[in-house]
Amino acid sequence: MPTIVIIGAQWGDEGKGKIVDFLTEKCDYVVRFQGGCNAGHTIVVGNEKYILHLLPSGILHKNKKCIIANGVVLDPSVLLKEIDILRSKGIEVDNNLFIAKHCHLVMPYHIAIEEQMEKRNKIGTTKKGIGPSYTEKIARNGIRMIDLLYPEVLKSKIKANLELINFLLKNLYGVKSLYEEEIFNQYIEYAEKLKKYIVDTDIIINQAIDNGQNILFEGAQGTLLDIDHGTYPYVTSSNTIAGSACTGTGISPKKIDKIIGIVKAYTTRVGEGPFPTEIKDSLGENIRKKGKEYGATTGRPRRCGWLDLVGLKHALRINGFTGIAVTKLDILDGIETLKVCVGYKYGDVILEDFPKELEIFHNCTPIYEELPGWKESTAGIKDYEKLPQNAKNYLQFIEDFLKVKLQIISTGQKRDEIIIKEFPL
Ligand code: IMP
Repeated sequence: MPTIVIIGAQWGDEGKGKIVDFLTEKCDYVVRFQGGCNAGHTIVVGNEKYILHLLPSGILHKNKKCIIANGVVLDPSVLLKEIDILRSKGIEVDNNLFIAKHCHLVMPYHIAIEEQMEKRNKIGTTKKGIGPSYTEKIARNGIRMIDLLYPEVLKSKIKANLELINFLLKNLYGVKSLYEEEIFNQYIEYAEKLKKYIVDTDIIINQAIDNGQNILFEGAQGTLLDIDHGTYPYVTSSNTIAGSACTGTGISPKKIDKIIGIVKAYTTRVGEGPFPTEIKDSLGENIRKKGKEYGATTGRPRRCGWLDLVGLKHALRINGFTGIAVTKLDILDGIETLKVCVGYKYGDVILEDFPKELEIFHNCTPIYEELPGWKESTAGIKDYEKLPQNAKNYLQFIEDFLKVKLQIISTGQKRDEIIIKEFPL
C-alpha cells in the first residue's frame, strides 16, 4: 500500500495538478496539506478546464475522498465558490470532502492587512491573506475551522484579532477599519454551510493508511517557495516540501512511501525574488505565450527562464524524491539550443549548491551547458520511444545530473498526453 507525496520542485506552477489528477485514478484519498487559495491547480478534463484553488484535485474524480488537512489555511468564501462552480457542472462534493477541525481560517482582515503590507514591502504575493493567516497561527491567535462551531469563541477571537489589525490599519496604514459584527455574521453563515465537512482528518488519514488504502498528498506552490528552504523572504508562508505532508496532516514520516518531484522542463516564477536563469528577451516572451505562463490565481505573467539544475538539486536533497515527472516538454519544441544551468558563478567562486544569501543571488551568473534542441513536435506523444532523440538527450541529461529516476513526462494539457516510463506507485 503506498502513500505518495507530490511536490513542486521549482517556484510553483510546475503542472502538479495534471500529475495529481492522473495518479488519483489509483488512489482512495487525495489530501491538501499546506498553502491555501494562493494555489491554482489547472486540470483539463475533456473540453472542460478546471482551476482549483483549495479543493484537492481529486475532487474531479468520482468516489475519491478529498481532505483539506490542518496545514492548509482556508478562506471559506473561496471554498464555497469553488464548491458551487463544481456543482453547477454536475460534480457533487458532499460525500467526498473532509476538512480538518484544526485547519486555520483566512479572514477578511488578513487580506486587508496584506494589501497594505505589500505596498510597503513588495513580495509580489497573491494577496489572498495567506501570510497574515499563517502569522496569526504561529502567534497562537489563529481562528480554526472548529471555532466556527462555537459562536461565542468565534466572536471573541474576531474581536481580539481585530483590535490589533484595526489599530494597524488606522494608525499605521491610514486606511479604514473593518467591522467585527459584519465579519462575525458572515462567518456564521459560512459555518452553517461548512459544518458538515468538519472532522478529525488526522484520524481518518491514519486509519486509511492502516487499512491499506492509497493516499496521495498534493503539495501546493514549490520547493523554492518554501518558508525555510526557499529564496527567503521571496517565498510563501508555509513549508512546501515533502516533510510538510507529515506536519500538515498528522502522519508519521514512517508512513510516506513515495515522493515525486514535479519539474517543469524550463523554469518559471511569479512575483518578486531571485531567478538566476530568467530569460529577459523575446525568447522568454515566446515561452510565456506558448506555455500559457500566466498565474492561475492572479493572471499575472510568469517570468520564464532556463532549467536550473542547481535549484533542482537542492529540491531533490531536501525532499528526497523517489522519482520525478517532467512537464511541459512540448513547450521547448523548436528552440534551436537549450541552456541548462549547472552552477552559479559569484565573483571568482563557482557554486554548485543553491545559496541562502540574497546577495549571492543578486550578483551571481548562471553557468550553462548547451544542448541541441529539436525541431519536431512532441505535443501529445505518449510513447517515450517516439520522442525526438534530442528531447531524449535533454531528459537524460536531467536524470544523470540529478541521479533520480524520470518516471513521467507530460507532453500536453490533456489527461492522456503523458508518457509513463515507470509507474511511480
Ligand atoms: P503568497 O503565497 O500569496 O504569500 O505569495 C508569496 C509568493 O509565492 C509570491 O511570489 C507568489 O507569487 C508565490 N506563490 C504563491 N502561490 C503560488 C502558486 O501556487 N504558484 C506559484 N507561485 C505562488
